[in-house]
Amino acid sequence: MNQTTSAETDAASEPGIFELLDVQKVYQVARRNGLLGRRKQDLKALDGVRLKVAKGASIALVGESGSGKSTLLRVLLGLTEPSDGLALYRGRPIAEARAAGPDFAREVAMIYQDARGSLNPRMSVGALVAEPLRHFGICPEEEIPARVEALLARVGLAKEAVQRYPAGLSGGQVRRVAIARALASNPSVLVADEAVSGLDVSTQAQLLNLLRRLQREMGLTLLFITHDLGVASYLCEEIAIMYLGRIVETGPTNAVLSAPAHPYARALRIAAPEFFAPITEPLPGEIPSPLDLPRGCRFAGRCVFAREECRHDDPVLARAQAGRSVACLFPLGA
Ligand SMILES: Nc1ncnc2c1ncn2[C@@H]1O[C@H](COP(=O)(O)OP(=O)(O)OP(=O)(O)O)[C@@H](O)[C@H]1O
Ligand SMILES: [Mg+2]
Repeated sequence: MNQTTSAETDAASEPGIFELLDVQKVYQVARRNGLLGRRKQDLKALDGVRLKVAKGASIALVGESGSGKSTLLRVLLGLTEPSDGLALYRGRPIAEARAAGPDFAREVAMIYQDARGSLNPRMSVGALVAEPLRHFGICPEEEIPARVEALLARVGLAKEAVQRYPAGLSGGQVRRVAIARALASNPSVLVADEAVSGLDVSTQAQLLNLLRRLQREMGLTLLFITHDLGVASYLCEEIAIMYLGRIVETGPTNAVLSAPAHPYARALRIAAPEFFAPITEPLPGEIPSPLDLPRGCRFAGRCVFAREECRHDDPVLARAQAGRSVACLFPLGA
């Protein structure tokens, strides 16, 4: 397993599968402005994101609602273009890679958060799994039924499932169909947005086992958005913690979670006592509006360790010890 992924973007090292170089994504949003009516304002959904995803890496993207996780995935999938900075797939701009032909879509598969909503309710499971096989011309028509059956077996569904429709499937089965569709094109990268949320604990555990096994067997590069640090540490060797459009800490999951260097990473860990030592110390204050970012470090207003400098200087993600990077003027444990 490749352990070299980090937010570091040394020119000397080989290009990653994905590389984000100071990526910004700015949305124009309407904002009420008293008697003057509506006014357009910039919302920085991503604000200088640096990330390198090495081949075979498994990375959990973690952070509060609105921190930019889905926007980051949309950039990686080429569904939205950065407003500034560079987003590369195998060393070339993602937009160019996407436009060049079907290879990008075949190699980079997505599992959507709303798995049920992503499946056409009028198509049977067999037709749903056959669709990407045909679309990408993976095999001759006569081999499709056998391929569909093999894909269903791979995700733990019986061959009888081919005749069923999404409405008759449980939440866990629907996710398995979505995973089978994602795997149909033989991708090298699997991108998932909250793929196991909203399920009961045992179904979630079964799906996590399945994803972990598939990732290892197929050597997939995995990018997995989750709110759940337990899921992140079970499934992903690396973690990237986001706060208000930035990655504030990244590195090996267990190292980051057992000794977080960024106060926000520490606060997240404390908020998950079911997986870690129960320390009750809630994160003070509210997440600031991305329309009104504070000066200096964007986390300073909620940080129990903030010093005067933190109100003025905006820390960038910088390499810390052992493959870790942190965006903090005074990292914990340093
Ligand atoms: N199309 C859009 N137009 C305007 N603002 C947007 C758009 N998409 C996202 N945003 C804003 O960008 C910020 C980041 O949103 P994003 O959906 O990436 O967050 P997230 O981390 O995925 O949150 P969640 O955990 O709730 O899914 C938020 O403030 C959101 O309101
Ligand atoms: Mg999201």
